[in-house]
Amino acid sequence: MGLLIRNIKGLIQVEEEPKKKICGSEMSNIRTIPDAYLYIEEDTISDFGEMKNFPGKSGMKNNDRIDIIDVSGRFVFPSFCDSHTHLVYAGSREREFTDKIRGLSYEEIARRGGGILNSAKKLHETSEDDLFTQSMIRINEIINLGTGAVEIKSGYGLTVDDELKMLRVIKRIKDNSPIEVKATFLGAHAIPEEYKNDREKYIDIIINEMIPLVSSEELADYIDVFCDRGFFTVNETERILMAGIKYGLPAKIHANELDFSGGVQTGVKYNALSVDHLERSGEEEIKALVGTDTIPTLLPGSAFFLGLPDPPARRMIEAGLSVALASDYNPGSSPSGNMKLVMSMACIKLKMLPEEALNAVTVNSACAMGLSETHGSIARGRVANIFITKEIPSFEFMPYAFGSDLVDTVILKGKIIYPPTPLKGGYKSVY
Ligand code: NIG
Ligand code: FE
Repeated sequence: MGLLIRNIKGLIQVEEEPKKKICGSEMSNIRTIPDAYLYIEEDTISDFGEMKNFPGKSGMKNNDRIDIIDVSGRFVFPSFCDSHTHLVYAGSREREFTDKIRGLSYEEIARRGGGILNSAKKLHETSEDDLFTQSMIRINEIINLGTGAVEIKSGYGLTVDDELKMLRVIKRIKDNSPIEVKATFLGAHAIPEEYKNDREKYIDIIINEMIPLVSSEELADYIDVFCDRGFFTVNETERILMAGIKYGLPAKIHANELDFSGGVQTGVKYNALSVDHLERSGEEEIKALVGTDTIPTLLPGSAFFLGLPDPPARRMIEAGLSVALASDYNPGSSPSGNMKLVMSMACIKLKMLPEEALNAVTVNSACAMGLSETHGSIARGRVANIFITKEIPSFEFMPYAFGSDLVDTVILKGKIIYPPTPLKGGYKSVY
């Protein structure tokens, strides 16, 4: 059984020899095949090339039945990889949205029991089944927007039971959705109200109760800490990361969102897979990242929503770093998981070229979630996670048309997931 996509206007982000990540000036290149075909066998990308070299049915493997999609005028992209989200949450926080408009800062809202603690209260009152149902709506939303792999964090539980509840919901999403999921334990997202005067007690619970349980139930791939002013100090972050690493959880940390917190340097010290946010970063932070395996991950959705300074993406690229981009989909600082919009914001606000933004939401974000072997580009042997656009004039039109939904058809693991009736437009047939 195969799926042939033919007459592709442009096959985007093709790799003959896949790279683990794309660094510095190389980020401004992407390889595109104009007038192309793409052949998928079961759940895997099998072959691609120019239409003029198309070998015909006999040249395709597994050719007993081949479905054909003719996509004249449309582009094919590898699915977006969203390496930083908090999309398992209960309810929403639009009250704080208006509080912010009235002038309160993110930290002031947090101090009044809003923010993360507000979401923790709502999550506590929500059953595991209801939390799963609410989260699956967001999962289906991001799938339809072109995302094929997503990292999801805990961190709105903040008690042993509620952190495990969140992580079990993430596991259920993994088991029940075609999207690729990585789970991150973020017990150190905020200090709960009852430990405000005894932070050590909560850190002790994270290290000695939560981490061992999360590890024994195999509920997480990574550990995260919100290492920033008003949340966790460098010293606390180090102790929590060390405990996680001891249990086989590599680090991915929240760093330098609210202050020059030392989070970037701490992430590098503990060989974090990524350090994320980085709105407060300068030459020291960039220097700390050069020559390391840690991926700087920028979240322009939350900088936009909270009105934070923009991270120095251009300086990072000039310094040779492999910048990744993610949505940070969460109820408090980025209530959107739209990765096409993230590309637009990266271009408009961070002055990244469309090619740089694309590398950052595919190859580099796949690397930032430990999927560099299987996801992030159109390469033989990779998981067949792609989307077909509507008719558009060029590749750059994607980030340029920042408010338009241009994803037409979504294919995950070789299967058409969206639209539910793939014959929309009548362009599918069988060999
Ligand atoms: O990545 N910065 C910390 N955590 C989230 C926000 C969480 C919230 O406000 O609910 C973030 O922006
Ligand atoms: Fe976050």
